Amino acid sequence: MVLSPSPVPLADMADAASDVELPLVHRPRRLRRTEGLRRLVRETRLTVDDLIYPLFVMEGTGQRQEVASMPGCFRYSLDLLLEELQEVVGLGLGAIALFPLIPDAQKDNAGTESYNPTGLIPQTVRAIKQAFPQLLVITDVALDPYSSMGHDGIVEDGEILNDETVAVLVKQALAHAEAGADMVAPSDMMDGRIGAIRQALDAEGWINVGILAYSAKYASAYYGPFRDALESAPKFGDKKTYQMDPANAAEALKEVDLDIAEGADIVMVKPALAYLDIICRIRQHTNLPVAAYNVSGEYAMVKAAAAQGWIDEKTVMLETLTSIKRAGADVILTYFAKDAAKAMSGER
Ligand code: PBG
Repeated sequence: MVLSPSPVPLADMADAASDVELPLVHRPRRLRRTEGLRRLVRETRLTVDDLIYPLFVMEGTGQRQEVASMPGCFRYSLDLLLEELQEVVGLGLGAIALFPLIPDAQKDNAGTESYNPTGLIPQTVRAIKQAFPQLLVITDVALDPYSSMGHDGIVEDGEILNDETVAVLVKQALAHAEAGADMVAPSDMMDGRIGAIRQALDAEGWINVGILAYSAKYASAYYGPFRDALESAPKFGDKKTYQMDPANAAEALKEVDLDIAEGADIVMVKPALAYLDIICRIRQHTNLPVAAYNVSGEYAMVKAAAAQGWIDEKTVMLETLTSIKRAGADVILTYFAKDAAKAMSGER
Protein backbone atom coordinates (compact mmCIF):
# COMPACT_ATOMS: atom_id res chain seq x y z
CA MET A 1 0.00 0.00 0.00
CA VAL A 2 1.36 3.44 -0.90
CA LEU A 3 0.95 5.97 1.84
CA SER A 4 0.45 9.55 0.87
CA PRO A 5 3.31 11.72 2.26
CA SER A 6 0.90 14.39 3.53
CA PRO A 7 -2.11 12.70 5.12
CA VAL A 8 -5.38 13.82 3.56
CA PRO A 9 -8.13 14.76 6.04
CA LEU A 10 -10.85 12.09 6.18
CA ALA A 11 -13.56 14.38 4.87
CA ASP A 12 -11.50 15.21 1.75
CA MET A 13 -10.75 11.52 1.21
CA ALA A 14 -14.45 10.74 1.14
CA ASP A 15 -14.95 13.44 -1.49
CA ALA A 16 -12.03 12.11 -3.50
CA ALA A 17 -13.41 8.56 -3.39
CA SER A 18 -16.56 9.67 -5.13
CA ASP A 19 -14.53 11.36 -7.91
CA VAL A 20 -11.74 8.83 -8.55
CA GLU A 21 -12.04 5.05 -9.05
CA LEU A 22 -9.54 3.53 -6.58
CA PRO A 23 -8.34 0.08 -7.59
CA LEU A 24 -9.55 -2.60 -5.14
CA VAL A 25 -6.17 -4.18 -4.40
CA HIS A 26 -7.06 -6.20 -1.34
CA ARG A 27 -9.75 -8.78 -1.79
CA PRO A 28 -9.69 -10.97 1.36
CA ARG A 29 -12.35 -13.16 -0.23
CA ARG A 30 -9.70 -14.49 -2.65
CA LEU A 31 -8.38 -16.76 0.12
CA ARG A 32 -11.85 -18.02 0.97
CA ARG A 33 -12.84 -18.97 -2.55
CA THR A 34 -12.35 -22.74 -2.36
CA GLU A 35 -12.03 -25.32 0.40
CA GLY A 36 -8.46 -25.94 -0.80
CA LEU A 37 -7.54 -22.30 -0.18
CA ARG A 38 -9.35 -22.19 3.13
CA ARG A 39 -7.49 -25.29 4.28
CA LEU A 40 -4.18 -23.76 3.23
CA VAL A 41 -4.59 -20.59 5.30
CA ARG A 42 -6.53 -22.03 8.23
CA GLU A 43 -5.00 -20.71 11.47
CA THR A 44 -6.44 -23.12 14.02
CA ARG A 45 -6.59 -26.87 13.66
CA LEU A 46 -8.48 -29.05 16.04
CA THR A 47 -7.17 -32.61 16.31
CA VAL A 48 -8.05 -35.65 18.41
CA ASP A 49 -4.72 -35.15 20.17
CA ASP A 50 -6.13 -32.00 21.81
CA LEU A 51 -9.03 -33.75 23.47
CA ILE A 52 -9.64 -35.32 26.87
CA TYR A 53 -12.86 -37.31 27.24
CA PRO A 54 -14.54 -37.05 30.67
CA LEU A 55 -16.29 -40.26 31.71
CA PHE A 56 -18.57 -41.18 34.61
CA VAL A 57 -18.05 -44.46 36.41
CA MET A 58 -20.37 -46.23 38.86
CA GLU A 59 -20.41 -49.40 40.91
CA GLY A 60 -21.86 -52.70 39.78
CA THR A 61 -21.87 -54.66 36.55
CA GLY A 62 -23.86 -54.30 33.36
CA GLN A 63 -24.74 -50.69 34.16
CA ARG A 64 -25.00 -48.04 31.48
CA GLN A 65 -27.26 -45.17 32.56
CA GLU A 66 -27.75 -42.17 30.34
CA VAL A 67 -27.54 -38.81 32.14
CA ALA A 68 -30.89 -37.15 31.41
CA SER A 69 -29.46 -33.66 31.02
CA MET A 70 -26.48 -34.89 28.97
CA PRO A 71 -27.82 -36.98 26.07
CA GLY A 72 -25.11 -39.29 24.75
CA CYS A 73 -23.26 -39.36 28.10
CA PHE A 74 -23.55 -42.34 30.39
CA ARG A 75 -22.51 -43.58 33.80
CA TYR A 76 -20.82 -46.92 33.26
CA SER A 77 -20.01 -49.76 35.57
CA LEU A 78 -16.41 -50.88 35.08
CA ASP A 79 -17.18 -53.80 32.74
CA LEU A 80 -19.10 -51.61 30.29
CA LEU A 81 -16.64 -48.74 30.72
CA LEU A 82 -13.89 -51.01 29.42
CA GLU A 83 -16.06 -51.83 26.38
CA GLU A 84 -16.67 -48.15 25.84
CA LEU A 85 -12.95 -47.45 26.02
CA GLN A 86 -12.36 -49.89 23.20
CA GLU A 87 -14.37 -47.53 21.02
CA VAL A 88 -12.77 -44.41 22.51
CA VAL A 89 -9.28 -45.70 21.79
CA GLY A 90 -10.38 -46.91 18.36
CA LEU A 91 -11.39 -43.35 17.52
CA GLY A 92 -7.86 -42.20 18.22
CA LEU A 93 -8.59 -40.46 21.51
CA GLY A 94 -5.65 -40.67 23.87
CA ALA A 95 -6.81 -39.28 27.22
CA ILE A 96 -9.75 -39.62 29.58
CA ALA A 97 -10.79 -37.93 32.83
CA LEU A 98 -12.68 -40.04 35.35
CA PHE A 99 -15.49 -38.97 37.69
CA PRO A 100 -17.23 -41.33 40.14
CA LEU A 101 -20.89 -41.74 41.12
CA ILE A 102 -20.67 -42.67 44.79
CA PRO A 103 -23.64 -44.28 46.60
CA ASP A 104 -25.11 -42.08 49.36
CA ALA A 105 -24.27 -44.71 51.97
CA GLN A 106 -20.55 -44.16 51.27
CA LYS A 107 -20.71 -40.38 51.59
CA ASP A 108 -19.72 -38.43 54.69
CA ASN A 109 -18.69 -34.88 55.53
CA ALA A 110 -14.97 -35.68 55.42
CA GLY A 111 -15.19 -37.53 52.09
CA THR A 112 -13.50 -40.54 53.67
CA GLU A 113 -14.29 -42.81 50.72
CA SER A 114 -12.26 -40.49 48.46
CA TYR A 115 -8.98 -42.00 49.61
CA ASN A 116 -10.06 -45.63 49.95
CA PRO A 117 -7.20 -47.41 48.14
CA THR A 118 -9.65 -50.04 46.85
CA GLY A 119 -12.46 -47.56 46.17
CA LEU A 120 -14.25 -47.11 42.86
CA ILE A 121 -11.70 -44.82 41.21
CA PRO A 122 -8.53 -46.72 42.21
CA GLN A 123 -10.17 -49.99 41.08
CA THR A 124 -11.23 -48.42 37.81
CA VAL A 125 -7.81 -46.90 37.13
CA ARG A 126 -6.07 -50.23 37.76
CA ALA A 127 -8.37 -52.07 35.36
CA ILE A 128 -8.06 -49.41 32.66
CA LYS A 129 -4.28 -49.29 32.91
CA GLN A 130 -4.12 -53.03 32.59
CA ALA A 131 -6.37 -53.13 29.53
CA PHE A 132 -5.15 -49.92 27.86
CA PRO A 133 -1.65 -49.13 29.12
CA GLN A 134 -1.16 -46.34 26.54
CA LEU A 135 -4.35 -44.47 27.38
CA LEU A 136 -3.72 -41.42 29.58
CA VAL A 137 -5.85 -41.65 32.70
CA ILE A 138 -6.55 -38.44 34.59
CA THR A 139 -8.44 -38.56 37.87
CA ASP A 140 -10.48 -35.84 39.52
CA VAL A 141 -9.28 -34.82 42.96
CA ALA A 142 -12.08 -33.21 44.99
CA LEU A 143 -14.46 -34.24 47.72
CA ASP A 144 -17.84 -33.38 46.23
CA PRO A 145 -18.71 -36.81 44.78
CA TYR A 146 -17.90 -38.28 48.23
CA SER A 147 -19.31 -35.50 50.41
CA SER A 148 -22.64 -35.92 52.18
CA MET A 149 -22.83 -32.11 51.94
CA GLY A 150 -22.14 -32.03 48.21
CA HIS A 151 -19.25 -29.64 48.77
CA ASP A 152 -15.65 -29.81 47.61
CA GLY A 153 -14.41 -29.61 51.16
CA ILE A 154 -15.15 -30.51 54.75
CA VAL A 155 -17.98 -28.42 56.17
CA GLU A 156 -18.00 -26.96 59.69
CA ASP A 157 -20.67 -24.52 60.87
CA GLY A 158 -21.65 -23.83 57.28
CA GLU A 159 -18.05 -23.04 56.24
CA ILE A 160 -15.77 -25.01 53.95
CA LEU A 161 -12.53 -25.73 55.81
CA ASN A 162 -9.42 -25.20 53.70
CA ASP A 163 -6.39 -26.83 55.29
CA GLU A 164 -8.27 -29.81 56.70
CA THR A 165 -9.68 -30.43 53.23
CA VAL A 166 -6.25 -30.19 51.61
CA ALA A 167 -5.03 -32.96 53.93
CA VAL A 168 -7.79 -35.24 52.57
CA LEU A 169 -7.12 -34.23 48.96
CA VAL A 170 -3.49 -35.24 49.43
CA LYS A 171 -4.55 -38.74 50.53
CA GLN A 172 -6.93 -38.95 47.59
CA ALA A 173 -4.21 -37.97 45.11
CA LEU A 174 -1.85 -40.55 46.61
CA ALA A 175 -4.49 -43.29 46.28
CA HIS A 176 -4.94 -42.36 42.60
CA ALA A 177 -1.19 -42.29 41.95
CA GLU A 178 -0.79 -45.65 43.65
CA ALA A 179 -3.52 -47.06 41.36
CA GLY A 180 -1.64 -45.87 38.28
CA ALA A 181 -3.17 -42.51 37.31
CA ASP A 182 -0.98 -40.58 34.85
CA MET A 183 -2.17 -37.24 36.18
CA VAL A 184 -4.32 -36.05 39.04
CA ALA A 185 -6.61 -33.09 38.47
CA PRO A 186 -7.57 -31.14 41.60
CA SER A 187 -10.89 -29.43 40.83
CA ASP A 188 -11.71 -28.27 44.35
CA MET A 189 -10.24 -24.73 44.46
CA MET A 190 -8.85 -25.01 47.99
CA ASP A 191 -5.81 -22.78 48.59
CA GLY A 192 -2.43 -24.49 48.54
CA ARG A 193 -3.58 -27.88 47.37
CA ILE A 194 -1.33 -28.04 44.33
CA GLY A 195 1.80 -27.56 46.45
CA ALA A 196 0.64 -30.00 49.11
CA ILE A 197 -0.20 -32.67 46.52
CA ARG A 198 3.08 -32.16 44.61
CA GLN A 199 5.12 -32.49 47.79
CA ALA A 200 3.29 -35.61 48.91
CA LEU A 201 3.54 -37.27 45.49
CA ASP A 202 7.27 -36.57 45.37
CA ALA A 203 7.81 -37.75 48.92
CA GLU A 204 6.12 -41.05 48.05
CA GLY A 205 8.16 -41.47 44.88
CA TRP A 206 5.42 -40.54 42.40
CA ILE A 207 7.61 -37.95 40.71
CA ASN A 208 6.19 -38.76 37.27
CA VAL A 209 2.54 -38.35 38.21
CA GLY A 210 1.51 -34.97 36.82
CA ILE A 211 -0.89 -32.34 38.08
CA LEU A 212 -3.54 -30.87 35.82
CA ALA A 213 -4.66 -27.94 37.97
CA TYR A 214 -8.13 -26.50 37.75
CA SER A 215 -6.53 -23.10 38.35
CA ALA A 216 -9.22 -20.68 37.24
CA LYS A 217 -12.40 -22.52 38.10
CA TYR A 218 -15.42 -20.26 38.31
CA ALA A 219 -18.54 -20.58 40.45
CA SER A 220 -20.63 -21.37 37.40
CA ALA A 221 -24.22 -22.39 36.79
CA TYR A 222 -22.95 -24.31 33.75
CA TYR A 223 -22.07 -27.26 36.01
CA GLY A 224 -25.71 -28.19 36.61
CA PRO A 225 -25.93 -31.29 34.39
CA PHE A 226 -22.64 -32.67 35.79
CA ARG A 227 -24.05 -32.47 39.30
CA ASP A 228 -27.06 -34.48 38.04
CA ALA A 229 -24.68 -37.07 36.63
CA LEU A 230 -22.87 -37.53 39.95
CA GLU A 231 -25.75 -36.62 42.26
CA SER A 232 -23.29 -34.19 43.81
CA ALA A 233 -25.18 -30.89 44.03
CA PRO A 234 -24.43 -28.89 47.22
CA LYS A 235 -26.89 -29.67 50.01
CA PHE A 236 -26.78 -26.06 51.18
CA GLY A 237 -25.56 -22.76 49.79
CA ASP A 238 -23.28 -22.51 46.77
CA LYS A 239 -19.58 -22.81 45.95
CA LYS A 240 -18.82 -19.08 45.85
CA THR A 241 -16.46 -19.11 48.83
CA TYR A 242 -14.01 -21.30 46.95
CA GLN A 243 -14.79 -21.16 43.22
CA MET A 244 -14.06 -17.85 41.48
CA ASP A 245 -16.40 -14.94 40.86
CA PRO A 246 -17.36 -14.94 37.14
CA ALA A 247 -16.69 -11.20 37.09
CA ASN A 248 -12.95 -11.57 37.77
CA ALA A 249 -10.08 -11.88 35.31
CA ALA A 250 -6.96 -10.56 37.07
CA GLU A 251 -7.67 -13.00 39.87
CA ALA A 252 -7.44 -15.87 37.36
CA LEU A 253 -3.83 -14.87 36.69
CA LYS A 254 -3.16 -14.81 40.42
CA GLU A 255 -4.53 -18.35 40.77
CA VAL A 256 -2.51 -19.51 37.76
CA ASP A 257 0.70 -17.99 39.15
CA LEU A 258 0.16 -19.70 42.49
CA ASP A 259 -0.55 -23.08 40.90
CA ILE A 260 2.54 -22.81 38.71
CA ALA A 261 4.69 -21.84 41.69
CA GLU A 262 3.25 -24.80 43.59
CA GLY A 263 4.10 -27.27 40.82
CA ALA A 264 1.21 -27.53 38.33
CA ASP A 265 2.13 -29.15 35.00
CA ILE A 266 -0.94 -27.91 33.10
CA VAL A 267 -3.25 -25.07 34.13
CA MET A 268 -6.95 -25.10 33.35
CA VAL A 269 -9.76 -22.64 32.84
CA LYS A 270 -13.30 -23.80 33.55
CA PRO A 271 -15.90 -23.35 32.07
CA ALA A 272 -14.62 -22.57 28.57
CA LEU A 273 -17.14 -20.67 26.48
CA ALA A 274 -18.11 -17.84 28.79
CA TYR A 275 -14.41 -17.53 29.69
CA LEU A 276 -12.64 -17.42 26.32
CA ASP A 277 -11.04 -14.11 27.34
CA ILE A 278 -9.55 -15.81 30.40
CA ILE A 279 -8.15 -18.64 28.26
CA CYS A 280 -6.62 -16.04 25.94
CA ARG A 281 -5.02 -14.08 28.77
CA ILE A 282 -3.64 -17.15 30.49
CA ARG A 283 -2.22 -18.43 27.20
CA GLN A 284 -0.29 -15.14 26.89
CA HIS A 285 0.69 -15.19 30.56
CA THR A 286 2.37 -18.60 30.88
CA ASN A 287 4.44 -21.06 28.87
CA LEU A 288 2.72 -24.06 30.45
CA PRO A 289 0.11 -25.94 28.43
CA VAL A 290 -3.33 -24.42 28.98
CA ALA A 291 -6.41 -26.62 29.24
CA ALA A 292 -10.05 -25.58 29.04
CA TYR A 293 -13.10 -27.51 30.21
CA ASN A 294 -16.06 -27.40 27.81
CA VAL A 295 -18.40 -28.19 30.69
CA SER A 296 -21.65 -30.11 31.02
CA GLY A 297 -23.95 -27.08 30.66
CA GLU A 298 -22.19 -26.04 27.46
CA TYR A 299 -22.68 -29.56 26.11
CA ALA A 300 -26.32 -29.71 27.24
CA MET A 301 -27.20 -26.41 25.53
CA VAL A 302 -25.89 -27.60 22.16
CA LYS A 303 -27.60 -30.98 22.53
CA ALA A 304 -30.92 -29.40 23.55
CA ALA A 305 -30.98 -26.87 20.73
CA ALA A 306 -29.94 -29.51 18.21
CA ALA A 307 -32.67 -31.86 19.43
CA GLN A 308 -35.18 -29.10 18.67
CA GLY A 309 -33.73 -28.76 15.19
CA TRP A 310 -32.70 -25.19 15.97
CA ILE A 311 -29.00 -25.57 15.25
CA ASP A 312 -26.84 -28.01 13.34
CA GLU A 313 -25.18 -30.04 16.07
CA LYS A 314 -22.06 -31.22 14.28
CA THR A 315 -21.20 -27.82 12.86
CA VAL A 316 -21.86 -25.98 16.12
CA MET A 317 -19.79 -28.56 18.01
CA LEU A 318 -16.77 -28.14 15.75
CA GLU A 319 -17.14 -24.34 15.71
CA THR A 320 -17.30 -24.33 19.51
CA LEU A 321 -14.26 -26.55 20.02
CA THR A 322 -12.30 -24.61 17.41
CA SER A 323 -13.12 -21.34 19.18
CA ILE A 324 -11.79 -22.72 22.46
CA LYS A 325 -8.56 -23.74 20.75
CA ARG A 326 -8.32 -20.42 18.89
CA ALA A 327 -8.66 -18.61 22.21
CA GLY A 328 -5.49 -20.38 23.31
CA ALA A 329 -6.37 -23.74 24.82
CA ASP A 330 -3.88 -26.50 24.00
CA VAL A 331 -6.02 -29.15 25.65
CA ILE A 332 -9.83 -29.37 25.73
CA LEU A 333 -11.89 -31.52 28.06
CA THR A 334 -15.16 -32.16 26.29
CA TYR A 335 -18.11 -34.54 26.36
CA PHE A 336 -18.09 -34.10 22.58
CA ALA A 337 -14.71 -35.85 22.31
CA LYS A 338 -16.07 -38.97 20.60
CA ASP A 339 -18.42 -37.05 18.32
CA ALA A 340 -15.62 -34.65 17.42
CA ALA A 341 -13.21 -37.50 16.70
CA LYS A 342 -15.81 -39.08 14.41
CA ALA A 343 -16.57 -35.79 12.68
CA MET A 344 -12.89 -35.00 12.14
CA SER A 345 -12.05 -38.42 10.72
CA GLY A 346 -15.04 -38.31 8.40
CA GLU A 347 -14.12 -34.95 6.99
CA ARG A 348 -10.96 -35.88 5.20
C1 PBG B 1 -16.33 -30.75 41.19
C2 PBG B 1 -16.40 -30.71 39.71
C3 PBG B 1 -17.43 -30.10 38.98
C4 PBG B 1 -17.14 -30.30 37.64
C5 PBG B 1 -15.95 -31.02 37.56
N1 PBG B 1 -15.50 -31.26 38.86
C6 PBG B 1 -18.66 -29.45 39.44
C7 PBG B 1 -18.63 -28.48 40.51
O1 PBG B 1 -17.61 -27.83 40.78
O2 PBG B 1 -19.65 -28.34 41.14
C8 PBG B 1 -18.01 -29.81 36.54
C9 PBG B 1 -17.81 -30.40 35.20
C10 PBG B 1 -18.91 -30.10 34.24
O3 PBG B 1 -19.86 -29.34 34.51
O4 PBG B 1 -18.83 -30.66 33.14
N2 PBG B 1 -15.14 -30.93 41.80
